[in-house]
Amino acid sequence: MPGKIIAIHTSKGGMGKSTLTVVLASYLAYVHQKRVIVFDCDPPQHSIADLREEEETTQSLLHQTYQLVSTNDLATMPQPYTSANDQAAFERYRHNRQVGLTETYPVHALPFSALQELDMDRIRDDFDYIFLDMGGQFNAGILRALAETDMLLVPFTTQQVDVTASIQYVGAILDYVLNRQLPDYLTIRCVWNKYKFTFARRADALEAYLAGVFKNEVLPVAFLKTRLNDADAGFDRAKMLTTISSPVLLPAGRYVRKRYDSQPAEWREAQYLQDIVNLIDEIRALLPDTVSTTRR
Ligand SMILES: Nc1ncnc2c1ncn2[C@@H]1O[C@H](COP(=O)(O)OP(=O)(O)O)[C@@H](O)[C@H]1O
Ligand SMILES: [Mg+2]
Repeated sequence: MPGKIIAIHTSKGGMGKSTLTVVLASYLAYVHQKRVIVFDCDPPQHSIADLREEEETTQSLLHQTYQLVSTNDLATMPQPYTSANDQAAFERYRHNRQVGLTETYPVHALPFSALQELDMDRIRDDFDYIFLDMGGQFNAGILRALAETDMLLVPFTTQQVDVTASIQYVGAILDYVLNRQLPDYLTIRCVWNKYKFTFARRADALEAYLAGVFKNEVLPVAFLKTRLNDADAGFDRAKMLTTISSPVLLPAGRYVRKRYDSQPAEWREAQYLQDIVNLIDEIRALLPDTVSTTRR
C-alpha cells in the first residue's frame, strides 16, 4: 500500500509547523510502529534536521558512557547530572534503552530544488507516512510537492496576525487549485495550535465564518476538530525531539512551568498528548487506504 504524504505549511513562521511535524511523525513511528520519514524543507533553518543532529550527538555520547551498564542498573541509577538539560538527555537515553528503541526514523534536510526531484512514488513504496515540513516560502518546488500531497495541514494559532496569514495562505492555495496548478483532490485541513480555552468563543466564531467563506470554493476546507492545546512554550524542546520512543511526555530540560487557564502544567501535558492522539485519529480517518491508489 503506498504511503501518505502529509505537508505542513503556512506562510508565516512560529505557528508550529515543525513542532507539529515532529509530534505526528514521532507518534506514528514510535507508538504506532509506522514507517515514517520527515523531509525538512525549510532552508536555511532546517530546524528539525538540526535538532536531530544535536539529539544524535548527545545520545551517542551517552551510549559511549553507559553501553556497558545493564538496563536494570540504568533504571535504578540516581540522577547523575546536575544540569536539567543533561539530566533530561540522560532520562531519554535510559528510557530508550528500557523500551529497546534502536532505530529512529529518517530526517532529511532538503533544499527546494531537491524537493522537485524527489521520486515520490518510490518513497511512497518505502514509507507509510511521509512528512513535509515546509518553511514560510512559496515557490515552484513547494507547488510541485503539494501537487503530490495527500493532505495539507495548515496550522492556525490564536494570534490575530497568524490567523490572517493562514487565511491568506489557504486563499492562495485555493487559487492554485482553481487555476489547475494543484489537484482538486488535495485534502486541506486547518488545525488550531497553541490553543487556549479562553479563545474558545473566538475560535468557534472564526471557524463558522471561514466555513461560510470557503463554502463555494473548489474544494472543501475545514478545521480538524482537535485543537492542539498550548503545551507551554517552555516545554517546547520535548515536542521537537525525534529520537524518543515516547514523544512529548519525557522531560526535555529547560522547561519552565507556568500556569494559565487555572490548569496545572501536568494537566496541560497530559491534555497535549491526548490532543495528539485525537489528531492522529482524525488524520488517519481522513486518509483512507484508497486515497493514494485511486489517484494514480
Ligand atoms: N502546541 C504548542 N504549545 C506550546 N508551544 C508550541 C506549540 N506548538 C509550537 N510551539 C512553540 O512555538 C514555537 C514555534 O514553533 P515551530 O514549530 O518552530 O513553528 P514553525 O515551524 O511554524 O516556525 C516553538 O518555540 C514551539 O516550541
Ligand atoms: Mg519550522
